[in-house]
Amino acid sequence: MMVDKNYVLVTGGAGFIGSHTVVELIENGMVPVIVDDFRNSNTKMLEGIQKIVGSEVLFHNVDIGNKEGLSLIFGQYNFSGIIHFAADKAVGESVSLPLKYYKNNLGGLINCLECALEFSVDNFIFSSSCTVYGDPDGSTTVTEITPQKEPNSPYGATKQMGERILEDVVKSGAALKVLNLRYFNPIGAHESGNIGELPIGKPNNLLPYVTQTAAGVLEKLTVFGKDYDTPDGTCIRDYIHVVDLAKAHVSGLKWIGNQTGTTVEIVNVGTGKGTSVLEIIHTFEKVSGKQLNWEFGERREGDVEQIFADVTKAKHLIDWEAQKSMENAVIDAWNWEQNLRND
Ligand code: NAD
Ligand code: WQD
Repeated sequence: MMVDKNYVLVTGGAGFIGSHTVVELIENGMVPVIVDDFRNSNTKMLEGIQKIVGSEVLFHNVDIGNKEGLSLIFGQYNFSGIIHFAADKAVGESVSLPLKYYKNNLGGLINCLECALEFSVDNFIFSSSCTVYGDPDGSTTVTEITPQKEPNSPYGATKQMGERILEDVVKSGAALKVLNLRYFNPIGAHESGNIGELPIGKPNNLLPYVTQTAAGVLEKLTVFGKDYDTPDGTCIRDYIHVVDLAKAHVSGLKWIGNQTGTTVEIVNVGTGKGTSVLEIIHTFEKVSGKQLNWEFGERREGDVEQIFADVTKAKHLIDWEAQKSMENAVIDAWNWEQNLRND
């Protein structure tokens, strides 16, 4: 077994958030070990990580649903911690294929947890989501104790259940320390342009839709709804630069590694600021110098009018706060999109 280095297991490490986190871990002296089966990513992401860090990354092409394969990896490294990103994430698809989501998102989590306990790896970070808040009553700013609503999709249910599973395992007395990070809306790309979001098929999220429209891959962006009760009538979200989000995992690992005894904590990861859909479009047009082809359309079913994070706990507990601006994020996403098209 390899024991000399600070190995961190990163499931889903070839994905959008995982790849940026791998870079930040390496830049902070840790040795990430990626486990990904490329179901929603590409070897291009590994090449991109390697270009940024200037060295090979440790990688295993394994489905985490394959418990035996996962156990072999746990047997090979003395992990100090686990960051568990691997999951399916398309909200709409989860409504039509619920079993795919329950099987991968919960089955994968359970396999990771069983291995963690078997191999005595006690630091665990789980990728949760602001989707667990549903449509919050009354307030648009949510804290970690804002009551959760019924999940509005099987995907959302897997994040609520994932957190519940982790809490129950900690309550059972297992030697485990858990940090549930509830991400808001991750956007952007690494400023080098070597890694970024790689939506397979038509993008589900706003910013890749914007950049693909500007790049001519898609014809037109539809803004879903113009009559919301917000200053410009469009929905408001808390968009966070993916590199800031990646850094939250480094801060989270440092914090959790210093805890003694079992623990389970939840932390919102956002900027604390709300941005409307029209503001995103205007920022894009300003930084790219391009005019975007867009039109207003109907509201999208299930959309929350406005939600953004209260980020006080992140600052106090794990000593992290977002640094990058919306402009940074849009420039980086656009740069990445252009690199993709040039390839
Ligand atoms: P992503 O699809 O880019 O990355 C997930 C990675 O996991 C992919 O590389 C995929 O190939 C891999 N994967 C999935 N199932 C696997 C399996 N069974 N075995 C091995 N590899 C597997 O997604 P992302 O945006 O980087 O999201 C990462 C995590 O963050 C997910 O858990 C997601 O639910 C959560 N999250 C994402 C967002 C968002 O908007 N991107 C917001 C909140 C939470
Ligand atoms: C953002 C805004 C749309 C596309 C999703 C998941 C959530 C979490 C984050 C994983 C909304 C508007 C979008 C378009 C538009 N992911 N929009 N035209 O819906 O906040 O959250 O990602 O955990 O679970 O649901 O993000 O990027 O889809 O939408 O007008 O073509 O952009 O209405 O206001 P959302 P999004």
